[in-house]
Amino acid sequence: MKVFGTLRVPGDKSISHRSLILGALGSGTSRVRRILESADVHSTAAVLRALGADIPALSDDFVIRGVGLRGLRQPSVDLDCGNSGTTTRLMAGVVAGLPVRATFTGDASLSRRPMRRVARPLEAMGARFELREHGGLPMAVTGGALHSIRWESEVASAQVKSAILLAGLVGGIDVSVVETEATRDHTERMLMARGVGVRREGTVVSLAHTDELNGLDTDVPGDPSSAAFFAALAAIADSGELRLEGVCVNGTRVGFLRVLERMGVGVREEHRRVSGGEDVADLVISPAALRGTPVVRADVPSMVDELPMLACIATRADGDTVITGADELRVKESDRITAVVSNLQALGADAEELPDGMRIRGSRRPLRGRVATHGDHRLAMAFGVLGAAAGNDIEVDDPDCAGVSYPRFWKDLAGVHAR
Ligand code: S3P
Repeated sequence: MKVFGTLRVPGDKSISHRSLILGALGSGTSRVRRILESADVHSTAAVLRALGADIPALSDDFVIRGVGLRGLRQPSVDLDCGNSGTTTRLMAGVVAGLPVRATFTGDASLSRRPMRRVARPLEAMGARFELREHGGLPMAVTGGALHSIRWESEVASAQVKSAILLAGLVGGIDVSVVETEATRDHTERMLMARGVGVRREGTVVSLAHTDELNGLDTDVPGDPSSAAFFAALAAIADSGELRLEGVCVNGTRVGFLRVLERMGVGVREEHRRVSGGEDVADLVISPAALRGTPVVRADVPSMVDELPMLACIATRADGDTVITGADELRVKESDRITAVVSNLQALGADAEELPDGMRIRGSRRPLRGRVATHGDHRLAMAFGVLGAAAGNDIEVDDPDCAGVSYPRFWKDLAGVHAR
């Protein structure tokens, strides 16, 4: 298989969610360019609208007129978050700081995902949560007057950290979060750019209370988690190179690129620049004879969404790839440890589950068969890429679920490689 050409992957999902939320909470107008128009981001837009925010139809360039930090209202409908954990957890933080009661709902996958991780800190701040016994959705949140906290996070989660920061922002109180490992810091960067006092000292992130949030324009950079699929495609190609333009290369997001380099892949960064407080670059990726590599807990937060893709390309490496410290994969859109390993085994690969990760022994033997995505977008795309490798023939049961984060994925994939 040969790769060629230049691709601009869609806007970053994490920054897209946050551009809507912070735009809605701003005092003035905020212009958003290149937002990711995917199902998850539409969920955040819909939830904000249900709370009274003025969010226009999403497009490549639009303006949000903010209602201010205390301007959102009691919703008259449930807040349907679809498949989106980021929508649920970040908006739970926002609602916690408002004098409203709202019920969060979602699809079957989202309803199974753990919400106590946000309920606990937000309850400690004074919000009230009603959760099902299994700790998932539906979840009712009653917000109100909050008090300041310093929260020691039990899991490395940017969503939990962001929920606490947003509750502090809307509730007008100081908060700090002690992280177990540094997670993606888009919320902090975007708040700082809007004039909010946010500080990081080691693993502690603090937010100083404020009465106002400035509006600010956001030019959403390319999503490194979407770019990762194409970096992987180039890595397992037999020839050619692929250029990925305008990708966010924030250090908290590029663990996958660093692991690719450890496996022997050529990753060239060009035109590195700063845009809207984020580091952005063009990436040029070329194929390599891959070597297996260990991935440990400290590597995980900066590549948490890329681990299914890594596991897939590890089947084509020389030696073992052992991923540990990745127990968070069990509570993503699917149990990504069981789902990835059982699919790899069904295709004929040598893969084994570990309690907190997986072991994959590379062999380059042709992989053939049908994979079950369990409606998980990242599984669909990871196996789609693996299926493009020479000798492989893989059918994905639900290709359309890629629309959660990357609606034009299959078209982009078809456009940059040839058998
Ligand atoms: C996200 C954080 C990560 C990531 C998710 C997006 C965010 O989740 O997996 O796709 O935008 O904050 P966790 O915080 O649960 O690790």
